[in-house]
Amino acid sequence: MEDFEPIIIAFVCNWCTYTAADLAGTSRLIYPKNVRLIRVMCTGMVDPQYVIKAFLEGADAVLVSGCHPGDCHYINGNYKARRRIKLLKEILPQFGFEPERLRLTWIGASDSGAGCPDQGAGAKRGQIENGNLIVICHLSFGTCFDQK
Ligand code: FES
Repeated sequence: MEDFEPIIIAFVCNWCTYTAADLAGTSRLIYPKNVRLIRVMCTGMVDPQYVIKAFLEGADAVLVSGCHPGDCHYINGNYKARRRIKLLKEILPQFGFEPERLRLTWIGASDSGAGCPDQGAGAKRGQIENGNLIVICHLSFGTCFDQK
């Protein structure tokens, strides 16, 4: 089980988290190859169907990440995303998926990963506890602002 590499689908906002990933790349930071980034214009446009489809098609975990509260380029998209993720976590068990496999984070455009304790080779890619995936990666960029 130690070799388990979860496939993580990350829906990232174009203006903040994707830009942070780009900055990490230009700063030559390495982020885990088992994370598949899907760029969206705003976390507010991540339809719950996208998340459920990702799980149904084999994702071990799904991350939704965007601008910090108050920084959304479409004013309140990230607040909408936060409400949707909360509701999604409640209905995921009905589809047979643990809600811990879905996470929402805020990673700003300038959060390149400097100072992140999980940055680099030690980046968390997912952690197995009692047979369940309980921690979704911190992508190794960003400064680990988790939104519970
Ligand atoms: S534009 Fe980034 S979350 Fe809305």
